[in-house]
Amino acid sequence: MLRQANTGVAVYGSDQSAASSAGMVLRTEKLRKFFHSGSQEIVPLDGIDFSIDRGEMVAIVGPSGAGKSTFLHLMAALDTPTSGAVYFAGNSLQSFSEMELAEYRNRAVGFVWQRHHLLPDFTAAENVAMPLLVRGQALSQALRVAADWLGEVGLGERAGQRAGSLSGGEQQRVAIARALVNQPVLLLADEPTGDLDERSAEGIFELIERLHRSHHLTSILATHNLSLARRTERVLALERGKLAPGAEVLAGAVVHAGRPESSGVRTPGERVNLV
Ligand SMILES: Nc1ncnc2c1ncn2[C@@H]1O[C@H](COP(=O)(O)OP(=O)(O)O)[C@@H](O)[C@H]1O
Ligand SMILES: [Mg+2]
Repeated sequence: MLRQANTGVAVYGSDQSAASSAGMVLRTEKLRKFFHSGSQEIVPLDGIDFSIDRGEMVAIVGPSGAGKSTFLHLMAALDTPTSGAVYFAGNSLQSFSEMELAEYRNRAVGFVWQRHHLLPDFTAAENVAMPLLVRGQALSQALRVAADWLGEVGLGERAGQRAGSLSGGEQQRVAIARALVNQPVLLLADEPTGDLDERSAEGIFELIERLHRSHHLTSILATHNLSLARRTERVLALERGKLAPGAEVLAGAVVHAGRPESSGVRTPGERVNLV
């Protein structure tokens, strides 16, 4: 445990007090990211102010190339901003040492990619165990924990199967188990259903919803899929470098039933999430 949040709760997810206490988990401030492509400057993120409270599930929608992956990568400390800041539990990631960043990536964040990035020649259990091994856990213990997680994602019988021989939907389940095996606070999922057929996509989304609730996660999903996005508590649209309520994108969206007090799409200023 390298840091304590401002609130005094432990930053990392294995501490259950962190998982159950209320409050802001992550915040971005004037977040900007520029890329240079030849003589052209690409500005996918042009001053993003965003925050998410513990236990919330937010969808980020936007056309391809809008900057959804870039945004998730900055929040996961997989990339650094051109300017602005990301705060996790009140601490700026920029103030973290390399070791603290490595621990943040390994312990605080679970990241799910559109393409699962499993090691195809390793078994499902070995893939799920990988973040535990990185953390220094013994192989036998790590494989036991991994087997439990595979049970939780509905693949208890497949622990010993080569990851490369699983179906696309099954591979994504393994990737989700791997993302959560360290019990992170934050789940960041980058188009987790993007490569799947409709039925598998629905199954993966339901799994994420279930795990989000049962593990008290704080989840941010980037997705193209508006019918899945509108099932989250809050939808934000990323376009031309800015983040705005997703109401226009979802025009006519049916309100998510989980939050009767809310329209599911908040207006600017209603909460701290947007400027
Ligand atoms: N490493 C990079 N170098 C140059 N341009 C990049 C890089 N990463 C992303 N981009 C550009 O930034 C924009 C946003 O990309 P991305 O975040 O992947 O969008 P999305 O995930 O919404 O499709 C795109 O125009 C993309 O080409
Ligand atoms: Mg992307």
